[in-house]
Amino acid sequence: MNICIVGAGYVGLTTAAVLANIGHTVYCTDRDATKIDKLKRGIVPIFEPGLTEMIALNQAEGRLFFGANVRRHMMNCPVVMIAVGTPSAKNGSADMRFVRCVVKDLSLVIRSPKTIIMKSTVPPGTADWIDTLLQEYGVSPDMFELASNPEFLREGSAIEDTVHPDRIIIGAKKKETALMVKELYHAIETKFLLTGRMEAELIKYASNAFLATKISFINEISRVCDVFNADITEVARGIGMDDRIGPKFLHAGLGYGGSCFPKDVNALNYSASSKEVELELLEAVMKINRSQLEIYMNKLNHKLGKNRDHVRIAVWGATFKENTDDIRYSQAIAFMKKLTKQGYEVYAYDPLVSPPIPSVVWCSDKYKAVVQADALVIATGWPELIEADWNRVKQLMKRNIVLDGRNCLDKKTMEAYGFELAGVGRP
Ligand code: UGA
Repeated sequence: MNICIVGAGYVGLTTAAVLANIGHTVYCTDRDATKIDKLKRGIVPIFEPGLTEMIALNQAEGRLFFGANVRRHMMNCPVVMIAVGTPSAKNGSADMRFVRCVVKDLSLVIRSPKTIIMKSTVPPGTADWIDTLLQEYGVSPDMFELASNPEFLREGSAIEDTVHPDRIIIGAKKKETALMVKELYHAIETKFLLTGRMEAELIKYASNAFLATKISFINEISRVCDVFNADITEVARGIGMDDRIGPKFLHAGLGYGGSCFPKDVNALNYSASSKEVELELLEAVMKINRSQLEIYMNKLNHKLGKNRDHVRIAVWGATFKENTDDIRYSQAIAFMKKLTKQGYEVYAYDPLVSPPIPSVVWCSDKYKAVVQADALVIATGWPELIEADWNRVKQLMKRNIVLDGRNCLDKKTMEAYGFELAGVGRP
């Protein structure tokens, strides 16, 4: 099958690579000509384990093509998959400007019947809105079928999640459309749910909202652990042994970030309130996530005392989680900003990124960042940080305070090195 994928971001590129890998001919297109030019030359603009290799293989075998002429590729393919961004607008809603643009372009080039597949995360009602929009732009309804097929991949394990997904959700008005979309994934063994379009759209938002709720829940319980001197990792382990709860996404830390959870919880909240439904639980989930950083700032302040003059903090990790170069809504960066605002000197290191942040000094290696540091904050759980030479770190630091914002260090081991370790909900 010839498939055109519009949008060469994390979702678009991974889906393009995997669909090509299972035998389809995929044309991945994006309005960003520079990005497309790089992709043509084998330069993948994002860091995602295994992606560069899979793209190269499928380009070499003639199944994956990149092009910046969005309309031409859409015109030539019977299947058009939309994978453009839906960032947060100022009022918390999903900004649908890029989707609207694709729909407009599409309306100009539909000469033969097309199946349009919505991969981007979009608010409930989007498929119906696109139906209307296309007709307003003069496209006859018998020239297209639109399916909602949300993506559940995680950055950092995007290929693995796409090749071995927990489930594939396909929302369509007609059964034939749903079955046609299902056929695209013929080589992927998983559970399929064929459902309505509105339901598919809501499954995506509700899944992310539920996962964010799990994180805020465990972060809230970590606050109780803090005051009762209990270890949240043990509590989470015990809770997770109940099959009804499960062990995943019960990792307490500085809170959730990234381009999905903050945006999607907000957008779901916006969609509900536009219909006068108040989401009290999700309001609390967002509130807990915001205050989580505050709590750890207070912990650090308490350990370091009132005088901030020339108090140096090393921060390890800047991305929103390990194994990605994505810094969107990164709690690590939010924490660095808070530290500089409080008057601390901040020396930071991340294995992949060094975004400009006023008053933050970026170091080229993790050991340089800890020289003469009063405290070290682990803000992202990168394996290379966890596996540091802690003897060396201890010798380079001025004082011995480590705030493990991702609960990724072993307390006993760190204490044996002579550190005073403060975690999230750990005695
Ligand atoms: C998330 C979902 O997990 C994917 O299923 C979904 O497809 C994606 O959003 C999306 O909507 O596109 P992602 O944002 O890549 O994926 O990353 P996650 O691994 O879910 O982590 C999100 C945030 O939660 C990170 O900041 C992470 O550090 C934090 N987190 C995660 C915790 O604080 N505790 C946990 O137990 C798990």
